[in-house]
Amino acid sequence: MCGIIGAVSSSNVLPVLLDGLKRLEYRGYDSSGLAIIDQPGKFLRLRAPGKLVELERTVSANGDIDGLTGIAHTRWATHGPPTEQNAHPHISGDRIALVCNGIVENHEDLRIWLTDEGMEFQSETDTEVIVNLIRLHMDRGTDFMSAIRTSIKSLKGAFALGILHADEPGRIIGVRRGSPLIVGIGEDGIYLASDISAMIAQTRKFIVLENGDIVDINRGGMEITNLDGQVQHRDARISDLTPQSMEIGDYRHYMEKEIFEQGQAVSDTLEGRITASRVLEACFGTEADRIFNRTENIQILACGTSYHAGLVAKYWLEDAGMPCQVEIASEFTSRKHPTPNNCLVITLSQSGETIDTLTALDYAKQCGYAHSLAICNVPDSSLVRNSELVFMTHAGPEIGVASTKAFLTQLVALRLLSIVMARKDPSTAQDEADSIRELRELPANVESTLKMNSTIQEIAQQFADKQHALFLARGIHFPIALEGALKLKEISYVHAEAYAAGELKHGPLALVDRDMPVVSVAPNDTQLDKLKSNIEEVRARGGKLIVFADSETRLSSRENLQVINVASVESSIAPIIFTIPLQLLAYHVALIKGTDIDKPRNLAKSVTVE
Ligand code: F6R
Repeated sequence: MCGIIGAVSSSNVLPVLLDGLKRLEYRGYDSSGLAIIDQPGKFLRLRAPGKLVELERTVSANGDIDGLTGIAHTRWATHGPPTEQNAHPHISGDRIALVCNGIVENHEDLRIWLTDEGMEFQSETDTEVIVNLIRLHMDRGTDFMSAIRTSIKSLKGAFALGILHADEPGRIIGVRRGSPLIVGIGEDGIYLASDISAMIAQTRKFIVLENGDIVDINRGGMEITNLDGQVQHRDARISDLTPQSMEIGDYRHYMEKEIFEQGQAVSDTLEGRITASRVLEACFGTEADRIFNRTENIQILACGTSYHAGLVAKYWLEDAGMPCQVEIASEFTSRKHPTPNNCLVITLSQSGETIDTLTALDYAKQCGYAHSLAICNVPDSSLVRNSELVFMTHAGPEIGVASTKAFLTQLVALRLLSIVMARKDPSTAQDEADSIRELRELPANVESTLKMNSTIQEIAQQFADKQHALFLARGIHFPIALEGALKLKEISYVHAEAYAAGELKHGPLALVDRDMPVVSVAPNDTQLDKLKSNIEEVRARGGKLIVFADSETRLSSRENLQVINVASVESSIAPIIFTIPLQLLAYHVALIKGTDIDKPRNLAKSVTVE
């Protein structure tokens, strides 16, 4: 979603802003813009709808641009279409320029009031009310910083802002309320950005702003205060990211790179978390032992792909004797909840900044849920900072919008958790040492499954002229079918639906014909015989099936049934392995369809609006 990069530097900030925007592209956007103070009292503002290349064209057409202070923005349209006029920065009275990530909920009332006060609007955005509000307060005699503070107090919603005053080169004000914002401290300058990746070419030293913080960046350094002007102390940290870890290398897409990094990602997630025979439960936090001992049930909250990881975990946790509910985060907040006793709320998120998940966690706390655990891939993210227990997935940066290695490592984390929870119920008699051995073999199994790539590339051809697909599976693999369908639809735009195979004859069977490919995963588990019957139901109606099957299932190809063998693995880790062919299938179909795989239309990597 929207991304912010700003810089105060001793050299021209234009290259820093353009590089930052490039690095923010992965978040998802549909227009972009920048404003630079190129001479005291004057902004140069350039904006363009569409991809960044359009803005770069506009920049080139403007000849030499030089300035030591600037802000830039990638916009993911919410209020008003992605036009040049709606793109940020928004400027009021030629004096104040502002970029925003987030939403001002009371923008309609404020717009009416500001218009009555004589302010004019150039765009349809909610953001423009903020810049006009600041200017109105300044026109009435308030200084820049006080005008910002007063304005923020009358705004509702979650947002992050970067603000310039044309008469104050060398100064940027950043505001964080809800949406992420960090300050980078470099040798040549100080930077403001939505995430560390945007400034990684300049510095790895950064400060995470807390909600309610206002940072005043100037040539002398910076000061962080709260809305009432009290100074706040925030520690600087050094990021693990390097510019190299963000490079695409020889891969065609980040998604391809991230699929192929999964063996390493799984291994990194396991490292230091298990011994030869035991999960070290302290990997969930120093208080994990005490909290897990009290836990009587679990509520998982997440969105999209992370929600699918939660659905898989329900099977593992309940198998371990731990009652577990899983809910889409945005739905959890839509009703009252009778608060269960000693319930551990688990949030799952790659980014740790998904607003629906953050809001659901807050709501769970208000409802009196006892404890919280975040399983997340981004250190210092809001989710991590708001949770009692934390498990970092160590997948490394995930740039492709479609989540792949983050999902696999979430599954690994949840598998570890279910092994720990199984200790509470001796009747489940899970052999922890066996489970650990299976996990230790997992990275090698992931690597060998990735060798199916060329076979899947050929199978993908069958989707070249298809508009729809069905995914079927049973039991713990039903969420894997959901995930396979989500991957296919989001990156190839082929309409795909997943069903629990038992549901087929209760409705979706009506859709089956020669033009509807049906994809299924068939592990060698207790559900296999029933799944085989469901496969036959499809064949009997002329449907064409592609089945990824454990090599021990003895399923074989015949008319309208193409079976692709997947190496046989223990059923406890099968969902992790069976995810991989479905990711590869989605990737190759999208390649054939020629879509923008890493930045699918309309989607954003970090979903920071509700
Ligand atoms: C799909 C995908 C999304 C995210 C969802 C939640 O491939 O990536 O469905 O899973 O937006 O994001 P996080 O995990 O960052 O909370």
